[in-house]
Amino acid sequence: VVAGKDLGLIGLGVMGQNLALNFHNHGYSIAVYNRTGQKTKDFVAKHSEIVPAYTLREFVDALSTPRRVFLMVTAGAAVDAAIDNLSGLLAHGDVVMDGGNSHFKDTERRSSDLEKRGVRYLGVGVSGGEDGALRGPCLMVGGAMEGYEHVSEMLRAIAAQVDGPCCEYLGPRGAGHYVKMVHNGIEYAIIQTIAEAYDLLTRGKKLSISAVSKIFKQWNDGELNSFLMEIATLVLKKSDPGTGKPLVSMILDRAKQKGTGKWTSQNALDLGTPTPTIDAAVTARNLSALKNERVKAAEVSKLPRRTSSMPNNFTGKLAGAVRASMIMSYAQGFHLMRAASVEYGYDIPFREVARIWKGGCIIRAKMLDSIYRAFRANADLANLMIDPEFAGILTKLDGKWRDTVRMAKGSTIPIPAINASLDYYDGYRSERLPANLIQALRDLFGAHGYERYDKAGEFHTDWASS
Ligand code: 6PG
Repeated sequence: VVAGKDLGLIGLGVMGQNLALNFHNHGYSIAVYNRTGQKTKDFVAKHSEIVPAYTLREFVDALSTPRRVFLMVTAGAAVDAAIDNLSGLLAHGDVVMDGGNSHFKDTERRSSDLEKRGVRYLGVGVSGGEDGALRGPCLMVGGAMEGYEHVSEMLRAIAAQVDGPCCEYLGPRGAGHYVKMVHNGIEYAIIQTIAEAYDLLTRGKKLSISAVSKIFKQWNDGELNSFLMEIATLVLKKSDPGTGKPLVSMILDRAKQKGTGKWTSQNALDLGTPTPTIDAAVTARNLSALKNERVKAAEVSKLPRRTSSMPNNFTGKLAGAVRASMIMSYAQGFHLMRAASVEYGYDIPFREVARIWKGGCIIRAKMLDSIYRAFRANADLANLMIDPEFAGILTKLDGKWRDTVRMAKGSTIPIPAINASLDYYDGYRSERLPANLIQALRDLFGAHGYERYDKAGEFHTDWASS
């Protein structure tokens, strides 16, 4: 009898195929199944060492026990369907891993359903796209620790390797998918920040796209070193074969989104944790989607084409604003994970999150070294902006950041993320905010009561009385 395979993978989309190959390339024996059998045939025709299964019974029987099953199917109903079809075939102690971008609340539900049947369930956030899946993703794992112990060696082997494997157990049940969701919220915020820099330099400073690519290259060689800065340099260099123009200038300015960034903003509002730069990035995508309305509005009320004076050192100032906005994006993401750790009992190890984000994932960046050090120095750090190193960096960036915002306002070019970051930076450090007036107004029209500085308790005033 052929010995059981180390792992079975279901879902042969490009990510699934690449992950299967990654496991295989690290010496693990793999069986694969795909709902459409033809896809399985085509895949194993190119990779004969990988064992095909054309029924789930065949698939499950091909695996050594306790089984390890990796789902790479589209998030949502397809995951539930795969689990339903598998559940009658699995035994106590088997491990099922969901590597899709599943909503953490779905993972919470699935883990409690499967745990009741003794099946160990792990929600695995997989970051790094198709290339990462093949060469080394970042793996954010949540769920049953016993399940993790049975698969950790394999997952750590295939992960990106930067200061160790970019794979970590981050907490129970949905903790892994929660951290992946926040990763994507930060991703949205940084992508929007970079897009605003591109807009200021092209529409504002009237630089050519190839000039902006060179500027981004310089930035990527310095403190802004990051995967997103690196690929922004690349996409701006690409020319469109058909027209000879920069390809990016031919792409319709209407952003799509699969939803993971939106989920982050929704959850932050539910938890009462401010994530204004992430929210601004989601909203900016929504605004970009209103292309037809924007064209009509521009005809009715033309933006004054103020070629505001962007002095020669504007680019240097802008680099400071981009760096500060990136720092605020990470700060908001970790601040949200801190609230979630309490709310959902995840107890997320922030230092380890920073460490595994250094490699494989979309938001990998040089500044994660400093973020790692910040949480190593103080595991209970309330917010990155009060870490001594970051507080010092932000103080130095303050002037450039504020000047950039001022000049952007003068140029009428919207910078929702860079702007939201600055208001967050100022707001979080304001010992006084005008919420006292909000409380007074709410008490007048809604009798909602208010607290006082000088004495404890809840107060209400009949504001109409003299
Ligand atoms: C990753 C990416 C991946 C996905 C993006 C795009 O971590 O590898 O984040 O999950 O490609 O989330 O999703 P949007 O359509 O939401 O931008």
